[in-house]
Amino acid sequence: PSPIIHIDPARSISRVDPRIYSGFTEHMGRCIYGGIFEPENPNSLADPNTGFRKDVLSVLKELNVPIFRYPGGNFVSSYRWQDGIGPKHLRPRRPELAWLTEESNQFGTDEFMQFCKEMNAEPYICLNMGTGTLEDALAWLEYCNSSANTYYANLRRENGHPEPYKVKYWSLGNEVWGPWQVGQMESQDYAKKAFQWAKALKLLDPSIQLISCGETGYSDWDRVTLKKLVPVVDYHSIHIYTVSEGNHAVNVMGPAAAEKALEISKSLIDLAKIESGLDKQVTICFDEWNVWDPVRAPGEKGAEEHYDLSDALAVASWLNVFVRKADIVKIACIAQSVNVISPIITSPKGLFKQTTFYPLKLFATLMQGTSLNVHVGSPSHTGKTVPDWVEKLEKNAGGDEKLTKYIDVSAVLNDSKDEVRLAIVNRHATEGYTIPIRFGPACDVSGGTVQVYEVWSADLKDNNGWDGERVQIVEKQLPWSGEYSVKQHSFQLLVFKVELQ
Ligand code: AHR
Repeated sequence: PSPIIHIDPARSISRVDPRIYSGFTEHMGRCIYGGIFEPENPNSLADPNTGFRKDVLSVLKELNVPIFRYPGGNFVSSYRWQDGIGPKHLRPRRPELAWLTEESNQFGTDEFMQFCKEMNAEPYICLNMGTGTLEDALAWLEYCNSSANTYYANLRRENGHPEPYKVKYWSLGNEVWGPWQVGQMESQDYAKKAFQWAKALKLLDPSIQLISCGETGYSDWDRVTLKKLVPVVDYHSIHIYTVSEGNHAVNVMGPAAAEKALEISKSLIDLAKIESGLDKQVTICFDEWNVWDPVRAPGEKGAEEHYDLSDALAVASWLNVFVRKADIVKIACIAQSVNVISPIITSPKGLFKQTTFYPLKLFATLMQGTSLNVHVGSPSHTGKTVPDWVEKLEKNAGGDEKLTKYIDVSAVLNDSKDEVRLAIVNRHATEGYTIPIRFGPACDVSGGTVQVYEVWSADLKDNNGWDGERVQIVEKQLPWSGEYSVKQHSFQLLVFKVELQ
């Protein structure tokens, strides 16, 4: 079919939760050290009081990040949080088993809380269910949140932090199913253990929100753990990275797997609720997502991906999925926030914004409000959407015509109900399209213009780097004629002033 877009603001899906634009800072590669924290920076880029990179925090602020997840990731599964508090010269250096490095512990819980405060973001702590015990987890929660006259609350005070940090989000381990994980478990064993941890953690602080460790959202691990944990958790976490191996179609169609995964995990949550007889809200915390090829950018080497325009379009498609699935995904954390598979790359001399920074910024600032049901007619991609070695659901998602349209769209109505905003990715490598955009009967486009924010470059392989930014946002205001022409391989966010009757 020829491309066409129909939007009716009366047909809403759900409120877009601003927390879908959250971040993740792991002790991995140069995310923390040399990323957000570099007290010895030779070019005076660090704040002399906190050691935070002023330039990095300032650029991160452009992304309005509502939550940062910390301290891992795989790192957390052998992390002793107690090593990272108190006088810095007394903090022990430890072997680090996730990425086979050494951890200096110069950045720990109190520094992370200070970082979140400066970023005006909420902290989210992932607990160590590898080498860590329930006692360690309870101690961490007490240190962060307790106002009682008890040991760890007093230790926080002694360390100069009289007020509790009120950390709301706590997750029960990271990728515990993975063979690479210190403390890997079988699903039943994890579910039993996490259930006991959840009870104890909520006894100590009933105000916290707990996140169970899921897998992809469509695995047997997800089914088994949800069945047991739905009564005690508030969110179920899933992780998916899309891999392209240099194939543009695979790169941009990859997020179809995430959309399928969200549909399936929503049903698994429903099933677990029915089986437990509970009517409570459990939603998805997609706390690791991104474009990542671990062969191109191995974790042990710091996973520094150098993204191009094709990757930026893949990230825009990822974000379209989260907006369309606003009913089930309430938190999503891009993995990660600085240097490690990140939209920002630093050196001791400064930083540059990767291509992926720009769609993320546009979504975080403009795709807020209520997600709208959009009908899109578009030619579909028929080839593969994942590398040959990927099995299971990702392959099936590729066969789903609905999810592999070249024209990939999400839409919102802003909170003051006077703007419809449309995020359109043209995923076709070589074809541009002129797309009629039709609004529902009770919606008039007013003002006669459309505000456009476009991310495009002539070559899909164009990227940003120390020699300049070839991929950025181009802003323009155009007369509105009822149709819009998208260039080949482009992303555009269109803002229409509307009057609803
Ligand atoms: O984000 C990088 C790593 O990917 C995380 O540490 C881990 O949870 C995932 O496998």
